[in-house]
Amino acid sequence: MIRYVLLLTCLCTVHGEVGYFWHLSDMHYDPKYSLQANDNSCWKMRNNMDSEHMRLYKRLAGTFGSYGCDSPWALIESAAQAMREKHGKGIEFVLWTGDALSHAAGMSPELRLQCLKNLTDLLSHTFSEQFVFPVLGHEDIGLNFTLLANLWNHWLPEEALATFKNTGFYTIEQRTKNYWIIFLNTNLWLNVGSVIDNRVPQRSTNTATDNSNDPLGQWAWFQSVLDTARSKKETVYIVGHTAPGVDEREHGAGGLKEKHNTRYLQLVRQYADIIRGQFFGHWHSDTFRVVYSDIGSPVSWIMMAPSITPYQQGGPNNPGLRLYEFDKTSGQVLDYKQYYLNLPEANSFGRANWVMEYSLLKHYELKEITALSLHDLADRFTQSNDNAFVRYYAANTVSLPREVEEIWGCGGALNGACALQHYCSVTRLDPVSYSNCFQSYAFALASTSSPSAQIDLVILYQLLAILLTILRCR
Ligand SMILES: *[C@@H]1O[C@H](CO)[C@@H](O)[C@H](O)[C@H]1NC(C)=O
Ligand SMILES: *[C@@H]1O[C@H](CO)[C@@H](O)[C@H](O)[C@H]1NC(C)=O
Ligand SMILES: [Zn+2]
Ligand SMILES: [Zn+2]
Repeated sequence: MIRYVLLLTCLCTVHGEVGYFWHLSDMHYDPKYSLQANDNSCWKMRNNMDSEHMRLYKRLAGTFGSYGCDSPWALIESAAQAMREKHGKGIEFVLWTGDALSHAAGMSPELRLQCLKNLTDLLSHTFSEQFVFPVLGHEDIGLNFTLLANLWNHWLPEEALATFKNTGFYTIEQRTKNYWIIFLNTNLWLNVGSVIDNRVPQRSTNTATDNSNDPLGQWAWFQSVLDTARSKKETVYIVGHTAPGVDEREHGAGGLKEKHNTRYLQLVRQYADIIRGQFFGHWHSDTFRVVYSDIGSPVSWIMMAPSITPYQQGGPNNPGLRLYEFDKTSGQVLDYKQYYLNLPEANSFGRANWVMEYSLLKHYELKEITALSLHDLADRFTQSNDNAFVRYYAANTVSLPREVEEIWGCGGALNGACALQHYCSVTRLDPVSYSNCFQSYAFALASTSSPSAQIDLVILYQLLAILLTILRCR
């Protein structure tokens, strides 16, 4: 009996201590948010909407925001309060993956910096005993890195600050815990060079307009950090704003420049053995990606946390916040809890009641979070007898009300094409293989259906499954 107990104790201590961290992303704070039709920038973003949808948006809008606007302060403040209440103490760190500032035009550099200062103060008060680790989003450009470093100098150690001041990227070594966190400046690898051209005046030489193969030396640095970690037998998390791959809601729209996208995936394949997680934002949706080796086995995963702002050009979502649970010794991610705000409800009650939306393992009936288990999950999207896609799809827009989702998304009709768009985005991280994946299916669909016949969903799904098997074998 005693031996039995001892054995059990041993089994339990094999697992390291459990730790937690918050991941928040894409606040897009709009200090000019207002419900008046004519006096602020956010309503302008909706010029292309028809009047019926506009009326719906207006009906659902309120103090805590609108599906057509970036975040008012009240929403951001409620998110901070929710994090403090749900799990304010006993967390290891906070990941803040950029796009703190708003799309809204006409903000002076001074106002932008003031916004960032207020957000920084809010997070500092929310997490007075923890470190918040920020990365730059594609909207956070045109700001002086030195000023940003000063703003964040209570969170970042000296070495990190020194690197950040010149480049916008940095790394943190958790020496006692044997893991590193690498914070990338993905703006250096973006496709929208011209936008960055105009808005990074502070580094006239050596800017993000750098068309070289290694802007500001981020690749060389990234690889050297990975090498160092490997040589010390330590593990890493990778954190950034814009992930490789395509936007699953915008049907193939890409983020990173193709050469950088390719290089990123190569590096991840090469160092998959020490990478314990990749955490990104930018698309504003709740989704994930699987990275495959050259021979097609799943080797690494990427998680995208949904935004705090409800607005996104390609379609809105409810505001979300994510709490990760991980093994502090091995870095293994154990689970996460996704929290969200039902925006119309908050606006009509005049109170922001953040609640848990789902937890990852339970939601998808997973046993663990690995590249293989997430690969299997993506596979289930294509199976008609599995509700995984329905669940994923609801989470993808953070439980957006049906009447709003119908304007943008699959329109309530969760058909094969919709499942495929998501499946291909999750598993094909370069634009070419994404479109091959999607088009092969569309071709099969066109060649099997007679023009008048309604396609039977079950047959469609079976076809899809066969096709995907073929695609994977290539
Ligand atoms: C920042 O906070 C100060 C102090 O609360 C406030 O007066 C100011 O209006 C805020 N500015 C912005 C842009 O949020
Ligand atoms: C950035 O700010 C620092 C500190 O105020 C200043 O010394 C530096 O000249 C600024 N850089 C540019 C390019 O404006
Ligand atoms: Zn964003
Ligand atoms: Zn972004």
